[in-house]
Parts: sequence; structure tokens; C-alpha cells
Amino acid sequence: MNGVYRAVWLTENETLEVIDQRVLPHEYKTIELHNTQEAVYAIKEMVVRGAGTIGCVAAFGIYLAARQCRGEWEALKEHAAQIRASRPTAVNLMWAIDRMMASLERSGNRVADARREAIAIADEESRRTEAIGKYGADLIEKISKQKNGDTVNMLTHCNAGWLAVVNDGTALAPVYEAQKRGIDIHVWVDETRPRNQGAGLTAWELQQAGIAHTVIADNTGGHLMQHGMVDLVITGADRVTRSGDAANKIGTYLKALAANANGVPFYIALPASTFDFGVVDGVREIEIEERSEDEVHFVHGLLDNGSVGRVRITPKESKALNIGFDVTPRHLITGLITERGVCEASLDGVESMFRDLL
Ligand code: MRU
Repeated sequence: MNGVYRAVWLTENETLEVIDQRVLPHEYKTIELHNTQEAVYAIKEMVVRGAGTIGCVAAFGIYLAARQCRGEWEALKEHAAQIRASRPTAVNLMWAIDRMMASLERSGNRVADARREAIAIADEESRRTEAIGKYGADLIEKISKQKNGDTVNMLTHCNAGWLAVVNDGTALAPVYEAQKRGIDIHVWVDETRPRNQGAGLTAWELQQAGIAHTVIADNTGGHLMQHGMVDLVITGADRVTRSGDAANKIGTYLKALAANANGVPFYIALPASTFDFGVVDGVREIEIEERSEDEVHFVHGLLDNGSVGRVRITPKESKALNIGFDVTPRHLITGLITERGVCEASLDGVESMFRDLL
């Protein structure tokens, strides 16, 4: 992807510009964020989403906040708390804020230092996704060889491409790298109800990159696996515990169960910033976001009159439940694809690869 794709960047006027992911793939629109409140709004309302991108916007959000409160420490702490509370599950948000605040506490020039640290975070994340791409593509290449060069069919859930993490994404980084290596790859894209990040964002990314893909209804994966039509599953994650349990978009767990039942390898791709080393039992300990019922009641899309709008799909009187994420327990995960290599989803596997960060 040559470092050109980013969902978030600083403009020449020092505002933060982000791609409005709510209207893709039908409209390409960007929005400028000028202060803490606008950064919080963008994360909450999912103008930006995906764990890595949320972390980057949070980091740059601290830069905007530092400017707003002229570097005054107590005020900055309040702004940081507001950004931190914008979404609960993706740990990259908390990670980025903790790192920003630790670097600013004793700083003599908090505005300049916040700018530098936020840029460093984005650049480091970008390099991590590149490495994830290489390790993941090695797995894809191995399957391709076993199939004598026949098409490798990968299934993914939600969007874990460059819109979700600068610059290559996590689950899609291996796909982009496989394309560069000339591997014949095709991606089954789960639509990912209720917000359809697969149908809207992953399909858009793959289509832009000229990568063969097919959008499937969320419930199709199990059938495809039963019929030998999926060679591997790779998804991203929003928070992975020290023992390898992985929280990701709701529905990931069902895909992992189906993969396990059908002998299909199931990988989670993530940078170190998505680990929560303080948590061991993901099912019990990871806070799971619950969002508005409306995301279940309504579907957004391109209307016949050419505008982007929503239609209701449930009876007005029905209640809906909108749980944002689920946790896939480690025993269902074949391996964790990280920037340091592929490790086992277990306490031993994670601890031996990331000992210096514990
Ligand atoms: O609610 P979202 O769209 O922010 O959820 C995003 C996901 O679940 C992604 O799969 C996840 O962030 C991994 S990509 C970094």
C-alpha cells in the first residue's frame, strides 16, 4: 500500500482530518476535527472506527486538547478522560492516551511534544501493520503452495484494513502483501451486521486495491467452511488478553466456532497496542460495548434518489439489542499474527513473545 493510505492525518493548518467512514462506500467525504469535543464525537459516532484508527485519533486528540488548554496539566487530564471514555472495548484508545499522557507529564512544551508523540504513534503503528502483513502472507503463501497455486480463499469479519489501522490494517495487511507476492487470493467478506463494516468498508478497500472478493451474509461462513470453500480465517481484534482471548466485532466468535468444527485455521492479527496484558480471562473481564438499538432497527445505504440514508427493517414496536463485540476464547484461535511473528494464543505464547512489554 506504499504508505499512501491513511484514515487520519494532520492538515497544513494543523487540524486533524479524517475520512468519514459512516458514508463509505457511497460517498468519499472527509471531516476536520479541531478540538477534544470533536475528536470525542468522531470516535463515539463512528466517523472513525477500528481499534488502531481510534487509537491514532485519540493520540492526535490529545494534541488538539493540549492546544486548547495551552498545555495546562490539570485541564489536559480532564480532556484526556473525556477522550478515554468515548468507546470502551478497543484498548488501543486507552493505550494511546496513557502513552501520550506519560510522555507529556513532565514536558516543558506540551503542545509541541504532543504533536511529535502522536505522529510517532501513527508511524509506529504503520510499521507494525507492514510486519503483520509479511508474517500473515507467509501463512497464505504456504497454503497457496499446498494448493499448487490454486486460489486461496480467506474469510474475514468486519473491517480490519487501512481504514481501521494505519497503513495496511491488520487482517487485511496479509492480503495486500499476498497480492504483492503474486499469490492468487480471494476474500469472503462477512457483511457484519449491524453496521455492515464488511459490506461497506472491507469490500470498498478490496475493490480499490483490485483484490478478488465476495460479500456474504453473516450467516454464510459456516456453510462455506463445511464445503471446503474457506482455507483460512483472519480477523483483527479490539483487545487481546495476556492469555490470547480476543475481543472483536460481534459475530467473530461464531466464525471461530465454525472454523474449529470444520478444521479451518482461524487467526487473529494484531499489533502490540491491541494487547491488554493486565487481563487474563477475556470473557469475564473485557468490557463489551453496547450501542444504540437504532443500529439494529435501521440499515444505512444508497437510496434510489441517489442520497445516503437509512431504512427501518424492524416493526416499530420491537425491541432490539446491539452488543458491539464478542470474545473468542484462545482455544479456538490457531495463532496470533503480530509484528514480531505468529505466536500461540496462550499465556506462554504471548508472554514469551512480548516479555519486554509485560
Ligand atoms: O465497531 P468498530 O467498527 O470500531 O469495530 C472494529 C472491529 O471490530 C475491527 O475488527 C477491529 O478494530 C480490528 S481492526 C484494528
